Amino acid sequence: MRAPSTLKERIARRDYTVGVIGLGYVGLPLVMRFGGDGFRVLGFDVDGLKTEQLRQGKSYIQHIPGERLADLIRAERFEAFDDFERLGEADAIVICVPTPLNDHREPDLQYVERTTDAVVRTLRRGQLVCLTSTTYPGTTEEVLLPRLSSGGLRVGEDFFLAYSPEREDPGNAQFTAATIPKVVGGVTPACLDLACTLFAEIIERLVPVSSTRVAEGTKVLENIYRAVNIALVNELKVVFDRMAIDLWEVIDAARTKPFGFQAFYPGPGLGGHCIPIDPFYLTWKAREVGISTRFIELAGEINSAMPAYVVGKVADALDSRRKALNGAKVLVLGAAYKSDVDDDRESPGMKILELLGAKGAAVAYSDPYVPRLPRTRHHDLGLVSVPLSAESVSSYDAVVLVTDHSAFPYQMIHEAARLIVDGRDAFRRRGFTGSHVVQA
Ligand SMILES: NC(=O)c1ccc[n+]([C@@H]2O[C@H](COP(=O)([O-])OP(=O)(O)OC[C@H]3O[C@@H](n4cnc5c(N)ncnc54)[C@H](O)[C@@H]3O)[C@@H](O)[C@H]2O)c1
Repeated sequence: MRAPSTLKERIARRDYTVGVIGLGYVGLPLVMRFGGDGFRVLGFDVDGLKTEQLRQGKSYIQHIPGERLADLIRAERFEAFDDFERLGEADAIVICVPTPLNDHREPDLQYVERTTDAVVRTLRRGQLVCLTSTTYPGTTEEVLLPRLSSGGLRVGEDFFLAYSPEREDPGNAQFTAATIPKVVGGVTPACLDLACTLFAEIIERLVPVSSTRVAEGTKVLENIYRAVNIALVNELKVVFDRMAIDLWEVIDAARTKPFGFQAFYPGPGLGGHCIPIDPFYLTWKAREVGISTRFIELAGEINSAMPAYVVGKVADALDSRRKALNGAKVLVLGAAYKSDVDDDRESPGMKILELLGAKGAAVAYSDPYVPRLPRTRHHDLGLVSVPLSAESVSSYDAVVLVTDHSAFPYQMIHEAARLIVDGRDAFRRRGFTGSHVVQA
């Protein structure tokens, strides 16, 4: 069954309003894409500070220019709200709220549930609801659908429900949001048809799949694939280090194989909102069908041991210079979880700072994109980024490279630092080697 042609015609005419719930790293770029393509967009977020900034045409995401936002507001194509009063005006509602783990490392769906409850209150005929948040297979049908159907409206006839995951790669200039293929699954064929009609307006290539569960499973597979492969090279890093073999050089050689090999790189620990978290959504769901996800658990174990491995390398390197970590001055370079972004969520830098501090080191950090360390559920370090100069760098007993931002002055650091412990192969890659540079 196809979606009603009246709705599809309204999409084509741009006589159609898109509501985006959750205006963060995923939601705000979607606002820009729909708004930039002529749709009227209503943005909703529970964080009043964010909506206030947006109303003033200010962006809090590095790669979204405030001017473009201001243009949309001037053209009356974007408004931001910190309540859901006007949610009913939206013809399509795209949900981009967080899906973290709770303290027991189990899925915490409270944001998705609360959002869905808000949608239920204004759900009306013809509305399309599309979940974008990463989650375990089954969420759309088991968590959203019963709530949305509770008022008597029928899915696929009165309202439409889909799941379409996001594939952002922040900081990667090679792909634009429009050129990354987008997977879409609908609860019914009409749901899929309507969701595809809408997303086809802003994305070059859609990948329709047979169900929301397949679409949810696709996203989870993509993130597990990364987590497991990163764990593999992290394990090899430790083994090869003991054998005095440079794993980064090994990977560079291996990647010349034109088939059957994809390069993954070791690092100081996983970070960001996705890879350290999403695989455990499946772990939790798999228990329901009596299966334990051993690969995922093992990858988690190896990856989460990496910050301690880096700290061990710092201690060893200081030790070989007759210096104890306890009492040493250590500068960590990078608080964002990956290069050239300002996102510090789940960043290994925080963990490394904490572990170094617990061992008695006097810690500081520098990151051009993270001026101060935020207080989170797990960390409250209260540090501000220190400016980098030859004088300041040389005053530390060790400098630990956690995030390979291109903005770091590598040559100056290489010349000024007494000891560099490099968790990203950032110095060797740029030709800066020497006995004071240690891979970690
Ligand atoms: N960041 C990425 O690169 C990325 C990539 C793919 C998928 N995802 C997934 O997308 C989802 C959103 O991630 P994000 O990175 O945009 O998170 P984010 O924290 O940057 O943004 C989420 C926003 O939702 C808001 N919010 C929370 N509860 C709300 C509610 N009940 N109603 C309205 N707004 C609410 C928060 O205030 C925040 O602004 C997650 O499931 C994540 O796993 C993220």
